[in-house]
Amino acid sequence: MPAVVIVGAQWGDEGKGKATDLISSRIDVVVKFNGGNNAGHTVVVGDEKYALHLLPSGILTPGVTPVIGNGVVVDLGVLFNELTALSARGVDVSRLLVSANAHVITKYHVTMDRVTERFLGKRQIGTTGRGIGPTYADKINRVGIRIQDLFDESILRQKVEAALEVKNHLLVKIYNRRAITVDEVVEELLSYTDRLRPMVADTALVLHEALQDGRTVLFEAGQATMLDVDHGTYPFVTSSSATSGGAATGSGVAPNRIDRVIGIAKAYVTRVGAGPFPTELLDPDGAEPEGPGARLRRIGFEFGTTTGRPRRTGWYDALVTRYASRINGITDLVLTKLDVLSGLERIPVCVAYEVDGQRVEEIPVNQTDFHHARPIYEEFPGWSEDISGAREFDDLPPNARSYVEALEAMSGTRISAVGVGADRDAIVVRHDLLPDAG
Ligand code: GDP
Ligand code: IMO
Ligand code: MG
Repeated sequence: MPAVVIVGAQWGDEGKGKATDLISSRIDVVVKFNGGNNAGHTVVVGDEKYALHLLPSGILTPGVTPVIGNGVVVDLGVLFNELTALSARGVDVSRLLVSANAHVITKYHVTMDRVTERFLGKRQIGTTGRGIGPTYADKINRVGIRIQDLFDESILRQKVEAALEVKNHLLVKIYNRRAITVDEVVEELLSYTDRLRPMVADTALVLHEALQDGRTVLFEAGQATMLDVDHGTYPFVTSSSATSGGAATGSGVAPNRIDRVIGIAKAYVTRVGAGPFPTELLDPDGAEPEGPGARLRRIGFEFGTTTGRPRRTGWYDALVTRYASRINGITDLVLTKLDVLSGLERIPVCVAYEVDGQRVEEIPVNQTDFHHARPIYEEFPGWSEDISGAREFDDLPPNARSYVEALEAMSGTRISAVGVGADRDAIVVRHDLLPDAG
């Protein structure tokens, strides 16, 4: 079972970092294949809490080779800060490899991200402001800067010149900002080359060889299915392929090498930033007693790992998970944060939408319909027990088991593990996520 993909099945922050950590002692190589430091993964190991943005979560496990694949966009300042911080806490980061083909986020990408968002006003996407969209735009426009360009100063200078030519017109004439000079960009990028050089590799070849040798490779997605640039709620998405197809293009490993796709879904749903979210719970401001949306946010501690923004919260949406299962070919679901629902008398689950008076059971392909979709709920009885100590499925109260089984039936994919707390070992495993063969 050598090639395994982990993807988010909702709008991100499902607990992908924790799921990676769960199986990482049995993997040899972990590759991040999309996104950049817009991601935020929190992993709790004993008393230590790690917040990772650019590096794959698998870096926390000794012996694992972490890889930043070609599909990632890399802010080198962030990369070295994260590496320094992890080293200071005793994490061995010496094995890290970075694809020579990955694109680089420069200061003009970050500036463009922020000024374009401001310019959009009410139509803004609520990006993380990390330069992600503008860097992918330059990649597709063929004016991007790749990691390998940093090792040839004259090529680098030419490329930065070409990229800045139009952007400076925009910055000065449209956005009323100062121009960014070629020198300041080139100088900053060149300041990283000595530290970067030993990490740079033909990572597609490294991954191919690892798989040929029978080693286990984990492909770790940032973001999630509903934030995918093709399959998400466009334009309220990120700018990369966050679904399992992206694992192939973003790493250079062929799709027919992938054996297993693990989808991570929360027992409810959250979203950061703008865009449609049918099951969102909109409590009135300052509602007393606390509304259900605020309760999920407080107990689930739903605040962005990257920007600290409060996450929008809502009930579980079976249509979203079913869609994610189909788009990604999910073989196993990990349901996280079931413990956050403890204490609720009844738990609504969205089983269909009403769109213009019609009942629909698939995500509407038309964005306008999705904006108008009204959730149709089925309610399940809750439980009051603290479930954080459960380690076997049978340790869960009967109503919690029924809730998991109902979601499994609706989602069309088996739920192989259930998260019952933030700690590393707070998980109930029903089926091995990494069987040896298959
Ligand atoms: P990611 O972006 O998908 O890696 O997820 P984040 O790290 O942004 O958000 C998930 C949060 O939920 C983290 O703070 C985790 O520590 C926490 N978490 C993960 N699984 C569970 C769980 O089963 N129960 C609880 N209470 N917290 C969890
Ligand atoms: P993880 O990996 C949740 C959202 C942003 C915004 C949209 C576009 O932790 O699940 P971007 O900066 O990517 O151009 O912003 O995508 N977004 C995330 N939301 N979790 C994330 O990552 C996200 N990465 C981006 O809030 O709505
Ligand atoms: Mg996150």
